[in-house]
Amino acid sequence: MAADRHTRNIMWMMALVSILATVVALTGEPPKEPKRAQVQKEPLPFDDDVVDGIHLPTGLRAIKNYELAIQHCTACHGTELITNTKLSQKDWLETIRWMQKKQNLWELSKDEKPLIAYLAAAYGQDTTQGRRRTLEIAESDWYVLE
Ligand code: HEC
Repeated sequence: MAADRHTRNIMWMMALVSILATVVALTGEPPKEPKRAQVQKEPLPFDDDVVDGIHLPTGLRAIKNYELAIQHCTACHGTELITNTKLSQKDWLETIRWMQKKQNLWELSKDEKPLIAYLAAAYGQDTTQGRRRTLEIAESDWYVLE
């Protein structure tokens, strides 16, 4: 029994739709934003400048995740503020929160954890020698120099 004209039309339509769907799926745009994790797996552009474990242009210790400090911590002030400091993870976090609140430091999102781990590893309390811990000053104690 031959399918009538109406049924044949519907079958054609369905075939066309599925072909179209396949074409769209195959030629669809790849996701626009590259995954960060992938970006970071690429060779670091900074490694060429590392001598004796120090990234010369910034003076930062070149251990795991130092590129995050280069990205996030070199825009506003010299790195000697960092390299002269020895803080625990907790106090590094507090310093970052303070800069975010008062100094326009941006959200670090998923870089925050590895960055703080880097700071504590490279400039942590375990390596304390010489410089005292940053004073804890209550919010209300800040004042503007005239
Ligand atoms: C948006 C600007 C900005 C960025 C980016 C920034 N800071 Fe700061 N930071 C400041 C300012 C402003 C001060 C105060 C500078 C001063 O006292 O001369 C400061 C001070 C500091 C101090 C000294 C704090 C103290 O207790 O004396 C440390 C340590 C520090 N920053 C570390 C960092 C680290 C680590 C990063 C990266 C996560 C970073 N900064 C990124 C603005 C910034």
